[in-house]
Amino acid sequence: MKRIGILTSGGDAPGMNAAIRAVAKTAIHHGLEVYGIRYGFAGLVAGDFIPLTAEDVDHKISEGGTFLYSARFPEFAQEEVQKKGAEQLRKHGMDAVVVIGGDGSYHGALALTRLGINSVGLPGTIDNDIPYTEYTIGYDSACRTAMDAIDKIRDTASSHHRVFIVNVMGRECGDIAMRVGLASGADAIVIPERPYDIEKIANTLKQGFADGKDHGLVVLAEGVMSADEFKEQLAKYAPDLDIRANVLGHMQRGGSPTVEDRVNATKMGNYAVNLLLDGKGGLAVGMENGKPNTHDILDLFEGKHQGDFSLLDVNEEMTKD
Ligand code: F6P
Repeated sequence: MKRIGILTSGGDAPGMNAAIRAVAKTAIHHGLEVYGIRYGFAGLVAGDFIPLTAEDVDHKISEGGTFLYSARFPEFAQEEVQKKGAEQLRKHGMDAVVVIGGDGSYHGALALTRLGINSVGLPGTIDNDIPYTEYTIGYDSACRTAMDAIDKIRDTASSHHRVFIVNVMGRECGDIAMRVGLASGADAIVIPERPYDIEKIANTLKQGFADGKDHGLVVLAEGVMSADEFKEQLAKYAPDLDIRANVLGHMQRGGSPTVEDRVNATKMGNYAVNLLLDGKGGLAVGMENGKPNTHDILDLFEGKHQGDFSLLDVNEEMTKD
């Protein structure tokens, strides 16, 4: 192996640049040449490659987004498109690829491996919804950003004795909502994986005000419903409460990565290159008990991410019925 490529795919996440840096620096340390593939799998097929030196990536560790840019490219599910991608890599002398991204990225990495280009996937998504890893790159930063925003929302909620429904990202996964909800002191956390009772939530909020609380907060995962819909339903059970709906949206994907994201992205990026140096491909790198682990990408397609639902239980046990 002489030359490897790196790409980021799907929604961007803070810490992707730290992972690119770790891959590039580790590879260069081992005497390999490194190419950045811009715009994910779309750029791979188009041959949009740039050489990367250690100096190119030196200051990237603290930057949000992905300097290689990202794209969603569903066309890469087609075999003839995958073959074009593999041909581009061969033409440019690349023997292996590290793919950083969410769910769809693993399909691409596996396809390339089957076409003879060893590829390893790193979990890069704020959603924390990948099986067999307790952590995905960007999750901690997104939680931090959402928590900071909610701290500000609580200030205004308290001044006006209002209830805020705050919708956080995560697709069908409630991990961001659970962690941010607990960290923000939410009265209720609503996620797609667990049943919820809107009447009970309304009663909790009403009781809070009756007991002298000056605000109410519901952290709602986007996979459940929109903040406006939830507000409407809640208002039926609590017509006297002054309720506002708020969507945090893409701000959760931006900003400088946290320490946890930088460190984990660096550990996993370094690990991925070592797997490729050992001649391995078709693998997904994850984190388990603070250490990088691997699973066959095929296992990931069968597996289901298990959230830490104890966070929800802790929050519920602190809530007055
Ligand atoms: O997967 C990351 C994510 O930010 C999800 O939380 C969200 O549902 C989705 O991407 C938004 O996608 P887009 O950036 O295409 O609007």
